[in-house]
Amino acid sequence: MEGIKMVTIGGGSSYTPELVEGLIQRYHELPVRELWLVDIPEGAEKLNMVGALAKRMVKRAGVPVDIYLSLDREEALRDADFVTTQIRVGLLEARAKDEAIPLKYEVIGQETNGPGGLFKGLRTIPVVLDICKDMEKLCPDAWLINFSNPAGMVTEAVLHYSNITKTVGLCNVPIGMERGIAELLQVEPNRVRIDFAGLNHMVYGLEVYLDGMAVKEQVLEKLVHSRDGITMKNIVDLGWEKEFIQALNLLPCPYHRYYYQTSKMLDEEKKDFEAKGSRAQVVKELEKELFEMYRDPELDVKPPQLKERGGAYYSEAACNLINSIYNDKRDIQPVNVRNNGAIKSIPDESAVEVSCIITKDGPKPITLGDLPVAVRGLVQQIKSFERVAAEAAVTGDYQKALLAMTINPLVPSDTIAKEILDEMLEAHKEYLPLFFTKVR
Ligand code: G6P
Repeated sequence: MEGIKMVTIGGGSSYTPELVEGLIQRYHELPVRELWLVDIPEGAEKLNMVGALAKRMVKRAGVPVDIYLSLDREEALRDADFVTTQIRVGLLEARAKDEAIPLKYEVIGQETNGPGGLFKGLRTIPVVLDICKDMEKLCPDAWLINFSNPAGMVTEAVLHYSNITKTVGLCNVPIGMERGIAELLQVEPNRVRIDFAGLNHMVYGLEVYLDGMAVKEQVLEKLVHSRDGITMKNIVDLGWEKEFIQALNLLPCPYHRYYYQTSKMLDEEKKDFEAKGSRAQVVKELEKELFEMYRDPELDVKPPQLKERGGAYYSEAACNLINSIYNDKRDIQPVNVRNNGAIKSIPDESAVEVSCIITKDGPKPITLGDLPVAVRGLVQQIKSFERVAAEAAVTGDYQKALLAMTINPLVPSDTIAKEILDEMLEAHKEYLPLFFTKVR
């Protein structure tokens, strides 16, 4: 077949128009001829609405991309070149529970961190590994680009428990940080580049460049004086202690607030929860609005309201990555891949989020030596959490899940860990078959 066959699992997501826009903009160098949007029967209505919008978007743009909508994953995957996954197992209802239950125990309730992140991983990993099995049969040479959260833990699981080695985990946090810095410096985003190292949602900027000149110190100085520094739509910015950031001498990512400002963030979350409910509930309302718009047969571009979602610009990261693999661009992009020695204190075979050179053979992580001692331990701790959590997800082992929950730095004790675990297991029972087919 001429051109690229791309398959997006979870294609009915409200984020899909982002991806379609990114592909349209790059069509001249990234000739995607077939885009298959795949979903589960529960997502059929959304898939049809998003799919119809996607078709209008390519028509308006005048690019010959054939869009197929399917509920049959196997049919869609056959001979794919790129497979992207953007699934939410248990839909937003499950996210709402991930966010609400820990709060009852005075623990951060968050989509990808702490107990919420653990449970999102437990639900998502077996499904992604099933997709990998299908890929082995139907498109063994395809690239798997995963955006499903928790993207770091999922990439870790794919590297350990599947034979799909052409896999990359992707997140919009790094691109969001570069854009945030560009705003802070009031320059065009393409003039800013950051050297990234760490893990997904636990990544640090080691150096910041403006037109190739190192400007980290000036950036950190500005950062501590601004409230609307660098954040995503789903994370509140409470500012930083100036001396802390100066001593850290690294650019933290928005999610570091949960670790370095735990009690402040918890208070803020509780207030927010009282006022507007969980982020999942807010997102549900936003989605309603978005799908109302998608339904409009006149709409044939990505609506600007998508910028209100935390994942804004993820398609830019995704399309840039696919474009650079396809065209062997050898440019630098931050992605989640096998460490291969890039960060000395993380096992070679584990997933890390680092700046990589993107080639036709995939991302090659840039060797950075090691992380500064002040952050090394936290990063290793989260890596341990991700590994134990991934093992719990593939085995359905209660003790492993308890171990993961207890070693997570946001959970204060083994007893609270057990209480949260038991309540969340019960709440998510339907989506955790491995945990419930065994006698504990
Ligand atoms: C962030 C993260 C994404 C996450 C998103 C949630 O930016 O990087 O991994 O999916 O926020 O956004 P939402 O609008 O769903 O709260």
